[in-house]
Formats: sequence, C-alpha cells, structure tokens
Amino acid sequence: MRIRSVLNAVSAILSCAVVTSAQSPDPIGTIYSGHVPANLHGSDYHYPWPVKLFNFYNQRQKLSMAFMDVPASRKSNKGKTAVLLHGGNFCGVTWSDTARQLSAAGYRVILPDDIGFCKSSKPQGYSYNVHQQALNINSLLTVLGIDHATIIGHSMGGMIAARYGLMYPDSVDQLFLVDPLGLEDWVAKGVPFLSIDATYESQVVQNFSSLKAYEAASYFHNATWKPEYDTWVQMLADIYAGDQGSEYAYVMALVTDALLSQPVIYQLPNLQMRTYLMVGENDVTALGKAWSPMSVAATLGHYSTLGPAAAALIPNLLFSWLD
Ligand SMILES: *[C@@H]1O[C@H](CO)[C@@H](O)[C@H](O)[C@H]1NC(C)=O
Ligand SMILES: *[C@@H]1O[C@H](CO)[C@@H](O)[C@H](O)[C@H]1NC(C)=O
Repeated sequence: MRIRSVLNAVSAILSCAVVTSAQSPDPIGTIYSGHVPANLHGSDYHYPWPVKLFNFYNQRQKLSMAFMDVPASRKSNKGKTAVLLHGGNFCGVTWSDTARQLSAAGYRVILPDDIGFCKSSKPQGYSYNVHQQALNINSLLTVLGIDHATIIGHSMGGMIAARYGLMYPDSVDQLFLVDPLGLEDWVAKGVPFLSIDATYESQVVQNFSSLKAYEAASYFHNATWKPEYDTWVQMLADIYAGDQGSEYAYVMALVTDALLSQPVIYQLPNLQMRTYLMVGENDVTALGKAWSPMSVAATLGHYSTLGPAAAALIPNLLFSWLD
C-alpha cells in the first residue's frame, strides 16, 4: 500500500519520457498482438489486459516474451512510460494495481514477464544472467519504439532494474528499486554452491503450501498473512503443477544460479539517474539461506542494515522504508 502512495506522490515529478513510433520493421524481433491461448507457456493465470508477445531470436533459439501494454488513461501527460519488472516468485500481472495507478497518472505502462517466467517461454539451455534479462527488456522497449522510461523493479526485478540502469543510463528517466535482491553478496558471505540439479529437485516439488510457507516466512516475516495474497501463491503453484512445471522448476534452478553470481551491490555507486530505493525493514529474503549452515544463514537478509548501506552507495538517491 505504501508503494502505491509513494508512486502516486512521485508521479507528479516524473518527467521527460519520450515515446516514438517504430515505423520500419525491426530486426531485433517482432510484436504479436493476436489471439493467445489462456494457457500460455504453462501459465493460465488471467491477465486483465491483452497479452502480447515479443518474439525474438536469442542465444540460438526462438523466444517469446509475454507482456501487457497499458495505455495512459489520462491524456494530458502523454509521452511518459513506466516499465514494471516482477520479482522471481511473481509475474508482470502482480503489478496490476500499480499499473492502473500509473495509467491514471498519465503513464503508458509495460508489464513484461521475463524470459523463463509466467507466460513467457522457458528455454532449458539458456544463460539467465541478469544482464541478459535487462537486455531482453531493452529489446522489447526498442521494438515498441520506447527510448526512455521510468524503470520500476521489485525483488529479482529490482536487481534487473538496477542492472538496466547501469547498462542503459541514457534510457532511464528514473529508477525505482522496491526491495531489490542483490544488496548483499551471498556467496562472499559463505553461501555454499548447490548444484543446479539439486536446486531443481527442491523446486520441482513446490506446491501451494510450500510456496505459501516460504512467502509467509520470507516476505511477510512477523506480519499477518492476508487472504488477498493467496492469488499470487496460486498463480505460481499452478505453473509448477502445469504442463511446463518441470521446465519451470529447472528455469528457477538456472535463475538462482545466475542471481547468486551477480549481486548488484558492487555497482550501485555507478548508477547515474535519480534512484528511489524502498526497503522493508522486516524483509528477510536471501538467496541460499535454505541450504547454508546456520552460522551463515544468520548473517543473511538483514534489510534493516542492508537498506541504509545500499542507500549510502547510490549517488542520486531517495530512500524510503516500506511499511
Ligand atoms: C506440498 O509440498 C510439501 C513439501 O514438498 C509436502 O510435504 C506436501 O505434502 C505437499 N502438499 C500437497 C498437498 O501436495
Ligand atoms: C519482527 O521482525 C524483526 C526482524 O526480525 C524483529 O526485530 C522484530 O522484533 C519482530 N517484531 C515482532 C513483533 O515480532
């Protein structure tokens, strides 16, 4: 709720997003705006706006990135775009409420599902490194003719957003990092290597109860679980139980492996644009905690100190605690 009010408050001062129309065919990929099946790449979750596809060729294979493109509902601020990047246990659709608010504030809003996630394709032989995910988002925006945007990312999406800001500083109007991952170097702190196959084994058995237990412990630490959170757990559980559940579990293993090796903390001093960092004091999310010795696990995910430490590294920063 706090995220929404902060976004509302700052929307008034966001400026200068430029949208142009791509007229000529683009070699990077193509946009498909036709009919898509309800069950797309293993996810049948209902999305409130039409699902479009960015079809492109990458790492020697054909890929399809699902996204929603929500027009600004208020015309006076035409020309501004916001891109909402989802967390690892979420999908673009999780940002729907925020998208509605941004649309009402005059933003065109793009909500992609990252490659490997949700309604996007789930390549099994693919480098899911964070730069690649940022590049994929940039390719989508390029094909859509968007050369400037406000980039907003949550959790894993915050890590991708920060990487995006480092890779494309001239294309980012402002950066919003909402409980981003990567504010600590898990491996340097002692998280041992867990093979991709072992991570897969732990992922492929996920179901509604195990996912809810994880989310309650990690994202809602000592807070009350609300019934409206269930839908996001069900969305995820249905992917695991769906026709690409095994592929999805393997993608999660590859993604975990990639994220562990790419904490963004070391590069935060290089972020040039106005950056908003929002951190939940009670958040305890940390990659590798589950398979680390207790002495290591105890050192991970202390956002009450990670937040201010990261804030001190970002040159052009506005910091806020989340309720
Ligand atoms: C869900 O997964 C957990 C852990 O793997 C398991 O103990 C439990 O029996 C599963 N529940 C259902 C309903 O399948
Ligand atoms: C909530 O969690 C934080 C961080 O672990 C802790 O400092 C605080 O005491 C907890 N509050 C309650 C009411 O349990």
